Amino acid sequence: MFIRQDTIEKNAVLLLVLTLLTVAIGGIVEIVPLFTIETTVEHVKGMRPYSPLELRGRDIYIREGCYVCHSQQIRALRDEVERYGHYSLAAESMYDHPFQWGSKRIGPDLARVGGKYSNDWHYAHLQNPQALVPESLMPRYAFLAETKLRIDDIQARMRVLRLEGVPYTDEDLADAAADLAAQADPQADDAALVKRYPKANLVQGNGRAVTEMDALVAYLQMLGTLVDFADTNSERLQQ
Ligand code: HEC
Repeated sequence: MFIRQDTIEKNAVLLLVLTLLTVAIGGIVEIVPLFTIETTVEHVKGMRPYSPLELRGRDIYIREGCYVCHSQQIRALRDEVERYGHYSLAAESMYDHPFQWGSKRIGPDLARVGGKYSNDWHYAHLQNPQALVPESLMPRYAFLAETKLRIDDIQARMRVLRLEGVPYTDEDLADAAADLAAQADPQADDAALVKRYPKANLVQGNGRAVTEMDALVAYLQMLGTLVDFADTNSERLQQ
């Protein structure tokens, strides 16, 4: 019951149908496994979901369009690795919905900016970038320091991410408001926060209301800090 090859080649419709069928099978074999993200992204020690304050900071990063000027993806090229640090791993964006890789760098890549500067530097820089880097093209975001952070919807935001596969537990949700407050107040007892979100960076606060700038700085300060590269198998490019 074999169709001879010359029969297929002489019949345009048959050739088209069989070609499409072959391509479809190849496509399915390649694409379907990617739908199960667990097998696609290599797990890396240290990755954890965003703390509630970092999550709100990330929302503000997206709302203000920071991604228009900043990428968050260090490519595996020598010049990038020497400037920014270890190239980005897929796992580092596994809890990002949507991811922030970006497509343009008017300012530097931010994938590993966490810990590069002090909190005070970030507050001052966001207030007035030109005060610290005179030739900077970055706009001022001083209003963020005067805008009280909206926190009443934090649980709903975390619940949506849970639908997308971020492993927030019921306890994480129940304690979200307390965790958020603890991260924005260096005087607070942060034991529960740090246990749940290791390496969470405390930002200012000093008893005043939590602002959008507090959240944004908490987010910037954790970028790229979670994975300890001395601990992973991925070899550094420059060695
Ligand atoms: C119009 C483009 C533009 C936008 C929009 C922009 N930036 Fe920048 N950013 C820059 C440029 C240019 C620099 C480099 C000069 C400097 O440090 O100010 C920079 C530097 C930075 C740095 C220091 C990076 C480093 O490694 O030295 C941080 C952090 C930063 N921006 C955060 C942000 C955040 C957060 C937002 C959104 C609230 C934002 N930027 C929006 C252009 C932009």
